[in-house]
Amino acid sequence: MHKDIQRILFTEEQIRTRVTEVAKQVDCDLAGKTPLAVGILKGGIIFYADFIRHLTMPLELDFMAVSSYGSGTASSGNLKIRKDLDGGVKGRDVLIIEDIIDSGFTLACLKKLLLERGAASVTIVTLLDKRERRTEDIHSDYNCFIIPDEFVVGYGLDFDEKYRSLPYIGILKPSVYQK
Ligand code: PRP
Repeated sequence: MHKDIQRILFTEEQIRTRVTEVAKQVDCDLAGKTPLAVGILKGGIIFYADFIRHLTMPLELDFMAVSSYGSGTASSGNLKIRKDLDGGVKGRDVLIIEDIIDSGFTLACLKKLLLERGAASVTIVTLLDKRERRTEDIHSDYNCFIIPDEFVVGYGLDFDEKYRSLPYIGILKPSVYQK
């Protein structure tokens, strides 16, 4: 285990089992559609790559990179788009695949934006749901794990751009981020 990790919350195997389970459910529920799988950089990238390999319908891939500033109302005006989608979403069934829903601000803004652009539907899948911190009226349609309000890293999630490549999800030692 990495020296900065206090304890492992989900092992590689637990993640693989649960991601497969949720992806198979989504595969079943969206059967017959041709979704646009939207990955949100950077945190969602490892989950995205593992998740989409269980989807059997024809799929198109696209990516966005966003950062939020301010946590006011769920307005797309407060979401900074650092990289936009390459293509349009009009009439498309969009499947957002994201690492974590925390306050919900990011996904509330994104969902609103994609619907305003004419998406036929927006389905949200998150690896982690830090439900107790939610301030926005939004939920993920599917999530792999509900987690407590702890600082988690690994499997895509970072602190200061580090720890993203850890194969498990771990709780970071407070001494690391309290420095
Ligand atoms: C994280 C995460 C979500 C967002 C969730 O992104 O990937 O996009 O925060 O928080 P919220 O529900 O409170 O909006 P971050 O800005 O850390 O960027 P990253 O994905 O590049 O790590």
